[in-house]
Amino acid sequence: MFQKKLKAAAWLLNTAVFLLTVVVGALAYQLVTNKDALLGQEEEVFYCGTIDEDFALLTGEDLQNETGKALFLNNCIQCHGFTEVVVGPALAGVMKRHSKEWVYSFVLNSSKMIEEKDSAAVAIFEEYAKTQMPAFAFSRAELDSLFDYINSQPRDVPAVETD
Ligand code: HEC
Repeated sequence: MFQKKLKAAAWLLNTAVFLLTVVVGALAYQLVTNKDALLGQEEEVFYCGTIDEDFALLTGEDLQNETGKALFLNNCIQCHGFTEVVVGPALAGVMKRHSKEWVYSFVLNSSKMIEEKDSAAVAIFEEYAKTQMPAFAFSRAELDSLFDYINSQPRDVPAVETD
């Protein structure tokens, strides 16, 4: 009688351990296979060559805008806002101040334009305390997406009152 009970208890214990192993195993498997989905959502960072899955599903204009946004966030935002001067000028309406070709060649190599005494480039360089903007090796398509994004940003952010 006692032995029978002991056998039953041992069987129960075995079964419980077995089930626990299966559950823990399944959880660990989930964690490993869905690591990106579980952990990757905190912040979205785009590096050169990063392929984001949402990104890959975008097409046409959306893709163009997302590429431009990523380029802007990775290369320009530390010095430029849209309506506020950061290190460099606010970029809202920049295409109204200069021609597209001027803006593109400025981004590709502003130092060269300053050296060649392009009057607008020299003026803006002087205005911004002779801080040089780095040169960027973008393709034409990248410049197009970048400026589609910049030009699509809101022009006027309501002023914050300070006293
Ligand atoms: C390290 C800071 C810095 C970074 C990064 C930077 N810029 Fe600039 N940018 C400047 C400064 C400073 C000026 C003012 C002109 C000068 O001094 O050369 C400027 C000027 C400009 C101008 C001319 C604006 C006008 O009103 O005439 C454009 C366009 C521009 N930047 C676009 C960009 C873009 C696009 C990027 C990213 C790909 C970028 N910049 C990254 C500092 C920066």
